[in-house]
Amino acid sequence: MLKGKVAIITGSTRGIGKQIALKYASLGCDIVINYKSENDIDRAKVVEEEIKEFGVKTLIVKADVSSLEDCVNLCNETKKTFGKIDILVNNAGITKDNLIIRMSEEDFDRVIDINLKGSFNCLKAVTQIMMKQKYGKIINMSSVVGITGNAGQVNYCASKAGVIGMTKSLAREVGSRGINVNAIAPGFIETDMTDVLTDEQKKNILNQIPLKKMGSTEDIANIAVFLGSDYSNYITGQVISVDGGMSM
Ligand SMILES: NC(=O)c1ccc[n+]([C@@H]2O[C@H](COP(=O)([O-])OP(=O)(O)OC[C@H]3O[C@@H](n4cnc5c(N)ncnc54)[C@H](O)[C@@H]3O)[C@@H](O)[C@H]2O)c1
Repeated sequence: MLKGKVAIITGSTRGIGKQIALKYASLGCDIVINYKSENDIDRAKVVEEEIKEFGVKTLIVKADVSSLEDCVNLCNETKKTFGKIDILVNNAGITKDNLIIRMSEEDFDRVIDINLKGSFNCLKAVTQIMMKQKYGKIINMSSVVGITGNAGQVNYCASKAGVIGMTKSLAREVGSRGINVNAIAPGFIETDMTDVLTDEQKKNILNQIPLKKMGSTEDIANIAVFLGSDYSNYITGQVISVDGGMSM
């Protein structure tokens, strides 16, 4: 399904990004593993070791997605090493939750800088290359709360709603160049990001999910495979909810 393809997955040292990297590799895709800072280099190497089991090629690139320069370098290094970029998964993201009366300006700005501007930076860098190739699959990680909103997450929801707007706009801009741009809106997925929720918060969330369970990173990786493959050739500008029915 992805044999011979080359994919960049931002924030692929753990959680959803790591699972997508492993899943893609298991299907024959060469993987660019991205990590943010020196603290994450060991995790990046662990992911690389796991990926090598599948016999595909890997490249590890340090890039903080909130820096355009880093994102340009990430894409250029990929092109230099593999000669092309078939898939970009804009996965890197953070939360800094608080009610608006307690949310600092810094926490608002940081979440926007990484989740929204970080996605823009990678999109800007990768489209230069994909437009020349006349081929590309772009997958942006939004969130169920980018659709529904969520108390205590004004910054995060704004960033994830912004990702949806950016996905649709770019899909219109680059559709004629053979580039598909779609978003995934995960519900509550078991990762380090949701590990910080209290039991009470988890209970409340489960009450809102028709399938009555949290999702797994595998659930998100499966749709990322579909959107990264040629099975999704006639799909663009869409937001695919993978949320146990939470947002219907
Ligand atoms: N877990 C969920 O329930 C859930 C739900 C909806 C959406 N999402 C989204 O899915 C994506 C992955 O989430 P996760 O749960 O795996 O989170 P996670 O915290 O486990 O992993 C996030 C990854 O992003 C990386 N990252 C953070 N800032 C970065 C930066 N500036 N530059 C490069 N990398 C950076 C981290 O190092 C980490 O590898 C995020 O965009 C998140 O918002 C997650």
